[in-house]
Amino acid sequence: MTITIDKLSHDVGAEITGVDREQLLSDDAVADAVLAALEECGVLVFRGLHLDPETQVAFCRRLGEIDTEPGHHPVEGIYRVSLDTSKNSSASYLRATFDWHIDGCTPQDDAYPQMATMLTAKAVAAAGGETEFASTYKAYDNLSDAERTRLATLRVVHSLEASQRLVTPDPTPEQLAVWRSRPSKEHPLVWTHKSGRRSLVLGASTDHVVGMDPGESRALLDELLRRCTAPERVYRHEWSVGDTVLWDNRGVIHRAALYEPDSPREMLRTTVLGDEPIR
Ligand SMILES: [Fe+2]
Repeated sequence: MTITIDKLSHDVGAEITGVDREQLLSDDAVADAVLAALEECGVLVFRGLHLDPETQVAFCRRLGEIDTEPGHHPVEGIYRVSLDTSKNSSASYLRATFDWHIDGCTPQDDAYPQMATMLTAKAVAAAGGETEFASTYKAYDNLSDAERTRLATLRVVHSLEASQRLVTPDPTPEQLAVWRSRPSKEHPLVWTHKSGRRSLVLGASTDHVVGMDPGESRALLDELLRRCTAPERVYRHEWSVGDTVLWDNRGVIHRAALYEPDSPREMLRTTVLGDEPIR
């Protein structure tokens, strides 16, 4: 195995070269190396890998248990990401992906946030549609000691409504009822991982800090997000067909850049299920 890891930015992201389809399917050392690189770098880019859906699912199964809910695609374990409602009947919800978020902060049940997500580009947008990543581990590491002390005990309510309002600020009563039928979740602002590392739980689903004045709460959450996602802290992936990107959803927030609703952009996603709660 000659796997090579080259950092793509100061804080987050690395390009992986030297692996091929056969190694992904059969080489245990590759899976171990990918998991280690994911923990260290947050985002792994495999340019031009042209993974077929079955191989993508098989490789993700080597990383952990995967989500097999139906995903508007014939291969189990693949979810089709497209704004085209003929390809994905839930496309309107995907518009929330244009804001920074962690996947799985407001699940229907008590599921843990996803451990990792893999996307492969099947078709790309003529303009826009890049995916941006920022490290929430670094966001914590970059706090002052006083800030760490202040944030250590804060708890935050996350809701689907908070994230949907960013893209639909004037919902109909029916939309609001659907959003509110999803239970909100309370999480600590600082996530202490089983590895011992700490990250901040930020993004579009943050509704308010428990027990804090609403204005102060919003200002604090917005300021922490602004610092976490400052341009020099972000890796922005410009997609080419056949690129595969894997990110660590436990320590990375992400968003897609705007693209046209009638764009052919189509991503095939596989989700590796969460292996630890936010605590
Ligand atoms: Fe997402």
